[in-house]
Amino acid sequence: MKLEIFNHSLVSTSLSPNTEKDDVLLALKMIFRPRKWKQGEEISILENEFKNYFKVNEAVSFNSGRSAFLAILKSFDLKEGEEVLFQAFTCNAVVNPIMRLKLKPVFVDCDESFNIDPKDLKEKITEKSKVVIVQHTFGQPAKMDEVLKICKDNNLILIEDCAHSLGAEYKGKKVGTFGKAAFFSFGRDKVISSVFGGMAITNDSKTGKKIRNFQRSCDFPSSFWVFQQLLHPILMHYIILPAYHFPSFGKFVLNFFQIFKILSKAVDKKEKEGKLPSLFPKRLPNALAILALNQLRKLEKFNIHRERIAKVYSEGLRGRFEFQGKVDQTKRIFMRFPILVDRKKDTERILVDLRKNKVLLNDGWRKTSIVPPDTDQKKMRYIIGSCPRAEEIAKRIINLPTHINISEKEARIVIKSLLKYVS
Ligand SMILES: Cc1ncc(COP(=O)(O)O)c(C=O)c1O
Repeated sequence: MKLEIFNHSLVSTSLSPNTEKDDVLLALKMIFRPRKWKQGEEISILENEFKNYFKVNEAVSFNSGRSAFLAILKSFDLKEGEEVLFQAFTCNAVVNPIMRLKLKPVFVDCDESFNIDPKDLKEKITEKSKVVIVQHTFGQPAKMDEVLKICKDNNLILIEDCAHSLGAEYKGKKVGTFGKAAFFSFGRDKVISSVFGGMAITNDSKTGKKIRNFQRSCDFPSSFWVFQQLLHPILMHYIILPAYHFPSFGKFVLNFFQIFKILSKAVDKKEKEGKLPSLFPKRLPNALAILALNQLRKLEKFNIHRERIAKVYSEGLRGRFEFQGKVDQTKRIFMRFPILVDRKKDTERILVDLRKNKVLLNDGWRKTSIVPPDTDQKKMRYIIGSCPRAEEIAKRIINLPTHINISEKEARIVIKSLLKYVS
């Protein structure tokens, strides 16, 4: 889905970046097949493809990563007040399922890889600690040997948050297969996308059974909601992205569709205040399984492309900006290419400036420990100052696009525009 109007191209980290023409046509086709919207065979085909890809014995689909995460947490029979440890610099979609189950969120600081810091993790463990969530941020696997050892020594359940890392590996083994269970997201700007969608996987048959039973007890989202999601790639492609040629107009058009509920938002207002809306947890509707399958079959192509674009950024920006640290013996998948700007520079000003040249690099992963930045940190039970490194990353980060709709030429435009901000 290339947008070239008047010979200028729009460069954007977000705005449904994985969508290609075949995805748009598929969504269009599905609009006219309402009988296939909810139930259908593609749900189990998608689940089986996940099972085979990870060689695990259960894969259970949901309408989002947050629903899948809630289902996993529920399967462990945890008691009110027990602690779930996870890294700061995460999405509110991770915190809300924990709070919904009346568990206590405990924030752990990040290390140089923007993932959970094993040292801080050790320090935050108490007798009430029961679960550790490890997030492989932006496709960079965390220090799994250290995390696994800490979990084993302290009898903690490990869940992997693979919302950013489908296809990434640690020591030759796919992330998602290290813990008791893992979850994935097919959100609009994730590794693959069906606008909304998620998957829980596990190799533990008892846990798998519980997650499956829970999924069966969930409803499908409404037909109108499915319709909204099918409209998303179509309106994005034909109306919203062209409007973004004038960024403020594009934003106005997107807001218009969202205010009038023609499209739904990725994160509801309530979620920024610590509440999980009734849309979660729900099952994955068949129409979205069809979109996700189409994307899953392009995973290899997407990730190879991301690696190529990351190499361009790496060569063009090395020594000028700090990069996300690499963990030894990992295969990253570069869902984004994050850079850290100088402490003295204001990322907000840089982003506003770049926007004027149609370079849109605000993906919401910035400013605060719990993103998006307008999330109420207090209601997330995050104490400002408790994870200083996460806070610093959030202040200094700019995420560069690596998706399939970004060419090497456009990556060089991004590099050129960023080099202006190096002192
Ligand atoms: C790190 C991380 N975990 C979990 C989620 C939740 O996924 P979803 O949006 O599919 O609910 C997201 C995205 O929102 C995320 O970025």
